Amino acid sequence: MAPLRFVRTLWVCLLSLPLLAAAAASGARHSTAVPSTTRPSASALPWTALPVIVRRGGRAALLVDGRPFLILGAQVHNSSAWPGMLPQVWPAISAIHANTVEMPVYWEQMEPAPGRYDFSVLDMLLAQARQHHVRLVLLWFATWKNGSGHYMPVWMKRQPQKYFKLLDQHGKAIDSPSPFARATREADAQAFAALMGHLKNADRQHTVIMVQVENETGTYGSQRDYSPAAQRAFAAPVPQRLLQALHQQAQPGETWKTAFGARAAIYFHAWSIARYVDYVAAAGKAVYPLPLYCNAALRDPIHPQPAGSYESGGPTYNVLDVWKAAAPDIDLLAPDIYMEDSARYLKTLDLYDRPDNPLFVPETGLAPGYARYFFAVLGHGAIGFSPFGVDYSLYAAQPLGAPALRKSTLQQFALNYRLAAPIDRLLARLQFEGKLQGIAERRGHPVETLHFRGWDAVIKFGAKPWGPSPNPTGNATPIGRAMIAQLAPNQFLVAGYFCRIDFKPLASDQSREFLQVQQLELRPGLPLKRIWNGDETDFGLNFSSAPQLLRVSLATYTGARY
Ligand code: DGJ
Repeated sequence: MAPLRFVRTLWVCLLSLPLLAAAAASGARHSTAVPSTTRPSASALPWTALPVIVRRGGRAALLVDGRPFLILGAQVHNSSAWPGMLPQVWPAISAIHANTVEMPVYWEQMEPAPGRYDFSVLDMLLAQARQHHVRLVLLWFATWKNGSGHYMPVWMKRQPQKYFKLLDQHGKAIDSPSPFARATREADAQAFAALMGHLKNADRQHTVIMVQVENETGTYGSQRDYSPAAQRAFAAPVPQRLLQALHQQAQPGETWKTAFGARAAIYFHAWSIARYVDYVAAAGKAVYPLPLYCNAALRDPIHPQPAGSYESGGPTYNVLDVWKAAAPDIDLLAPDIYMEDSARYLKTLDLYDRPDNPLFVPETGLAPGYARYFFAVLGHGAIGFSPFGVDYSLYAAQPLGAPALRKSTLQQFALNYRLAAPIDRLLARLQFEGKLQGIAERRGHPVETLHFRGWDAVIKFGAKPWGPSPNPTGNATPIGRAMIAQLAPNQFLVAGYFCRIDFKPLASDQSREFLQVQQLELRPGLPLKRIWNGDETDFGLNFSSAPQLLRVSLATYTGARY
């Protein structure tokens, strides 16, 4: 091996060591939950390659093939993961430059008769994803889908007494499964274990990197289940484990009502659903320990709806602690964000980004205004982001005569991934090392500042193309975005759209000098494309709608800039 290559290899190995150690620690955590009979043998499943979520110093990374991976996701419409629909999926995935596709697996299709499993559709998804060089996140549409049980197999729907719905406080059945229906839970756990077992054998290359358990669990129309089994549990003492997790002192025989008062129904329903989901998740994880997550239909974080008027029992922000205590086999709880205004969007990111909860946005709106939030999500160190409804099928709920999704609709999102896809691994590593920050334009905030060691980065939206532009107006519609990573004390990786970025040294008597501004090619190795200077740098770094990545080396001088 040439000496230079040897040094580089050694350097890569050294850089990887902390990650591998973290993965090993995480693998050890999983293995305690895996019965020895089902633990994967080393030859069947090299642990280094198994996708895993690792945490360090309050940050998290999804390791895929042993290295941090950033999910540049796209979720297809609910009924698009069928062989006959995929020709309308792949062109949209390629147009948006996604590296991961979120695809449902339908319980009704996978288990057409009790205990008989049909993996033909799943195998086709695996094969086609590999052909298109993307990873998959599978969505297990089973007991819950948007609060209902519509994906239960027909043979279950035909036995409503056995696989029962919950009852509201008037004893009326609601279109939502009861978390106390043991037969449903058993059937779901067995089917999910079968799915994971199939993946373990059919997906040794880890095309599937994560699985969502259920979809938007919870109930619309009742705060909780009032079925006889639920009533008995509600009258029983609150589990010690929950009280401890909430740091609540327990009196002997404390019931849900005495312990939680007005929140009793909400907490009880969240606990009941989360315990059920954890049962299903644990059954699958025991067979094949991929990262698992649950998604949430949100409660408004700025003007919270009253109990009973949002999806009760799912992992909304007000019951995250309850879910964490009840569902240790779920790696993360993820917000589906369909609130386009920046106050709600950014507040939601804050609420779900916790040391015990790696951030992931598995669904977000596809209107152009949502695209800019990708950069804010990146800045939160999220493991991924995914708009919903990315395929060219004609979605029935569109107004009559409206065209199917077109490439132009995807444009704002394609800009994001066009920039991020060639550097997805680098971005994931910089995030995990805490070096990357990102920002999305907020209406009425034309100037934003990000703080780094020794430097402030000042981002202006709506600045004039040339000249100092001290009072920018903001873009006519807020579509600006930026990401900045500190590579070295005076060196930054910088990218953005529809904004101007400049740097200010923290020492007030100093001014910024660009030593060199290199634009890098967006292809492997990131070779130099050109050096920016003159109009391109005199008043800051202007980012248009062109995908551009800069490596910026800075210096300071004593004195003022003109
Ligand atoms: C959120 C759900 O999780 C998706 O499956 C889909 O139904 C969307 N809502 C529709 O907007």
